[in-house]
Amino acid sequence: MATGLVRRALSRVPPSPAANLLLLRAHASEPQAPQSTPVRQSTHSLKNFQIYRWNPDNPSKPELKNYQIDLKECGPMVLDALIKIKNEIDPTLTFRRSCREGICGSCAMNIDGCNGLACLTKIPSGGDSMITPLPHMFVIKDLVVDMTNFYNQYKSIEPWLKRKSPAPAGWEGKEVPQSKKDRAKLDGMYECILCACCSTSCPSYWWNPESYLGPAALLHANRWIMDSRDEYTKERLDAVNDEFKLYRCHTILNCARACPKGLNPGKQIQNIKSLQS
Ligand code: SF4
Ligand code: SF4
Ligand code: FES
Repeated sequence: MATGLVRRALSRVPPSPAANLLLLRAHASEPQAPQSTPVRQSTHSLKNFQIYRWNPDNPSKPELKNYQIDLKECGPMVLDALIKIKNEIDPTLTFRRSCREGICGSCAMNIDGCNGLACLTKIPSGGDSMITPLPHMFVIKDLVVDMTNFYNQYKSIEPWLKRKSPAPAGWEGKEVPQSKKDRAKLDGMYECILCACCSTSCPSYWWNPESYLGPAALLHANRWIMDSRDEYTKERLDAVNDEFKLYRCHTILNCARACPKGLNPGKQIQNIKSLQS
């Protein structure tokens, strides 16, 4: 402040040794900002993961356990963090994984409130993260859920090619051909990896997990209904034409939001409904 006033006053007079001395004194009398001592920048980037833990061999209340890791020493995905925690901090942490590239569907879990594949989900930046099992599923241990009901529902839609007519001469025991146009009708369904992210995000499935088939099984039902080579279309439609199996879907579309493969099971369910006479 003082320096500014002196500087402004001196700017109106021609430069001289006396004026320069005055300016120096003004600088000297001004309180100096404390010299900042150089602070060494932390090379660490720590993040807390709150992870659901429950052990059937030592049954007590489930708990969220905190693990802190340095993100600079970890791969970019949530699965990388889980593997690091298991390898370096707590070998008892239990979760499923196999392919690490979004193909097997085994690493499905709930990450910060959204279902997804740990191997395809980037570690969220900033703040703590919470990782819990797929919602509304029975927990076997930690992040591993019981998929028995889910697989039984998939099995119930008979997910294989069913034919009535004998194969054309020369095609016995071989694949049944299909035009490119008919093959394209299976797009948006054949890519499903049965991870269960959709079914376990569906409120109707939460309330009726045994009687409602859920979005994944119904997507596959439609996949076979739409297959030009399959000859049991009517039987397949009849098999799911049920107040609970099919009509518990209220088109809320949580399933489409949750699907890590970008599929829209709700749309496929709509197609089954539209084909019911
Ligand atoms: S659209 Fe149907 S299947 Fe999908 S979340 Fe909603 S109710 Fe469930
Ligand atoms: S439709 Fe998507 S979310 Fe549902 S099981 Fe298939 S891949 Fe997973
Ligand atoms: S490990 Fe296979 S989908 Fe994530």
